[in-house]
Amino acid sequence: MQNSGSIRVTIVQNNPDFGQVEKNMTSVESLILDQKDPTSNLVVLPELFATGYQFLTKKETSDLSEPEDGPTFKFLSRLSRETGAVVVGGVPIRRPDGVSNGALVVSKDRLLVSYDKVHLFDRERDLFIEGRSPLPVVETPFGLLGVMICFDWLFPEALRSLALSGATVVAHPSNWVLPFGPQGMILRSVENRVFTVTANRVGTEARGGLPPLRYIGESQIVSPKGEVLARASQSEAQIITAAIRPSEALSKKVAERSDFFAQRRPELYHPGLSKKED
Ligand code: ACM
Repeated sequence: MQNSGSIRVTIVQNNPDFGQVEKNMTSVESLILDQKDPTSNLVVLPELFATGYQFLTKKETSDLSEPEDGPTFKFLSRLSRETGAVVVGGVPIRRPDGVSNGALVVSKDRLLVSYDKVHLFDRERDLFIEGRSPLPVVETPFGLLGVMICFDWLFPEALRSLALSGATVVAHPSNWVLPFGPQGMILRSVENRVFTVTANRVGTEARGGLPPLRYIGESQIVSPKGEVLARASQSEAQIITAAIRPSEALSKKVAERSDFFAQRRPELYHPGLSKKED
């Protein structure tokens, strides 16, 4: 059911030390609890927020992976109880055939859904298994919440499928390194008329002689009209928040006679075929 009221959305932008899972969880929790008022309806943490991102080998991903109900679930559950929020965060999930770059959506003591990233970025393709299930849309007290992870954003079909399934808010745990993500997500919000909540990290990782990865920060909350309601810095670990009304994302009408979801013409959307001359 859609709640028509205003809700508070919180992003934690952190700077994890690779492999220091407990330390990284402690600093996320401090950032949240150090706020004057930590209560929230939705808290979104970055992709792989407690492990770090630049894994060197499959063995490393395996060593830091967890079952769905492992330490990260328990941590997110604690954050949920401390804030009152639905909490979303990224974690390497141990699956029967390998490790996914995953995300958990947790409310109090319940795992609402888990997601295995569908579009793996660059070296992730050697380290993780690809998700094989559709991107999830989950019922929450404030309406339908969609989830995608970082590079999924560059596939317009991903967020479109979440919006077509009724999501009004999309949680987007990320580790952005490409500079055009923040701008690009404004368009994704507009073209789907949904709220997007991108939680990114900051800092640099340069492990095992690999080229350094610099994470660009700029976590942001964007409205269905493309307004940036809150944006974090490029370099600081910090919290950002905004008040949003998810029900504003229900209508896809942008002019009296233009509901751009109702007006879609999927039967015409196919790769262009060149007309053969006889
Ligand atoms: C990314 O998908 N972490 C860039």
